[in-house]
Amino acid sequence: MTAAPTVTPGSAASHLVPACLGGTPAVTLDQKEANRWPIITADDEAAVLRVLRTGELSSGHLPSAMGGYPCPHTEVLALECEWARWMGLAVMDVGDLVPSLAGFKFAPNVLSCNNGTAAILAGLHAMGIGPGDEVIVPSTTWWSSVLTILHCGGVPVFAETDMETLALDPEDVRKRITPKTKAIVVTHLFGIPAKMDELMEIAGGHGLKVMEDASHAHGAMYKGRRIGTIGHCSVFSLQVNKLLPSAEGGLLVANDPDLIIDAARLGQYERLVPLKAIGHPYARFAATGFGFKFRMSPLSAAVARAQLAKMDERTARRTRNCVRLSQRLEKLGLQTFMSAPDGDTQRVYFEFLVRYDASKFAAVCGGTPPATKDLAKALAAEGCDVSAPRYPLLHQQPVFTESEGHWKKLARLEHLKDLPTYDPAALPRTTAGNGTLLKLPSFPSAIDELLDQYAVAFEKVFGNLSKLPRG
Ligand SMILES: Cc1ncc(COP(=O)(O)O)c(C=O)c1O
Repeated sequence: MTAAPTVTPGSAASHLVPACLGGTPAVTLDQKEANRWPIITADDEAAVLRVLRTGELSSGHLPSAMGGYPCPHTEVLALECEWARWMGLAVMDVGDLVPSLAGFKFAPNVLSCNNGTAAILAGLHAMGIGPGDEVIVPSTTWWSSVLTILHCGGVPVFAETDMETLALDPEDVRKRITPKTKAIVVTHLFGIPAKMDELMEIAGGHGLKVMEDASHAHGAMYKGRRIGTIGHCSVFSLQVNKLLPSAEGGLLVANDPDLIIDAARLGQYERLVPLKAIGHPYARFAATGFGFKFRMSPLSAAVARAQLAKMDERTARRTRNCVRLSQRLEKLGLQTFMSAPDGDTQRVYFEFLVRYDASKFAAVCGGTPPATKDLAKALAAEGCDVSAPRYPLLHQQPVFTESEGHWKKLARLEHLKDLPTYDPAALPRTTAGNGTLLKLPSFPSAIDELLDQYAVAFEKVFGNLSKLPRG
């Protein structure tokens, strides 16, 4: 990430009167089409129809040579293979293991699920998280990265967020390790890669497992490596807002194929059937699995495959658009979380957040600068679609803070004495930092004129910071 520049509030548009002070709004172009997501074309429709017309809308069946038992649907297996190739992971021919099935392809490092939440739960199960195990997590993430831990009997331990990457702060993670710590779940929030080298080094030193929640970061790179290939396992949500949309879906990825088979035990009993052919001990669980059903619908897989074919191009367009605007906003003193140009770490723009650190603007305002919410109101008056980050801080949520101890009940840990309590006033840096963020559209299809109108809106408002209405 580039360092935030020093504040230079003057700009081409700074002499213009902001709309909140009686001027004309800067943003007049249509934003609906510019921000429409997902982008559905005839290719998606054809993919869904192709599967729908087969009538096979659940799992598939093994060839009669293998007993005709249920097995994953070919559309789902095809998605896993395409995702594996895209990630640079292995695709194998079953014929290498069972010669009579030559030509049947599978991806041993990828497991599709009915959503990202299920993929996280399956991954935690496979990492061996059990009763009383502590898992270090961010408070700034979607609840799925954290509440799933409770259903393994685990105890989420919140650590501070690093304001350079908006992901876990490695130094704070280090301080929270205890003899009970078993794993770290790190979210690459909004598509910005976390400090994985530091986190992996800490994890390695304490024998911890690392799950990357890459649900916002399809295609992001960290020091030349794909996000999602660095931790012990990773999860990509394919929920419809995501960079790879489907009709609900999730992908679990692991460097070790055994972790994938462990995860399949929890939610995908039909995957255990083919293991008979190679004499795998888990085949004995095929009749029951471990009590959940997490398999992906073939219709979702069809949408995801059609979307994957266009994902890189669409992600590149978002990046180009958000970078174009970021370059103007950085000049105003906003932190935009851009990746360094030509570096081997490259974020993606699932969501586009910028940071307004009011303390940096005291001098230019000649007094107390406007609060983030005042700035947001002034930008909204200009026609900008701007809001606070949409995820609430998890450590402050009733499921953790209410005296009834909901989280302990969910984790079935009420009998334990030395459990942590969750204090909404904990994580002061994260709480303060979260209040400095503003969410903008991620402009998947925006034209340059719209981006330039947004830039002018910011320039007008920042050129008149001291005059903005307060409160
Ligand atoms: C960071 C993060 N993790 C996990 C999930 C869960 O994914 P899903 O909605 O597919 O269950 C989401 C989805 O919104 C998410 O944003």
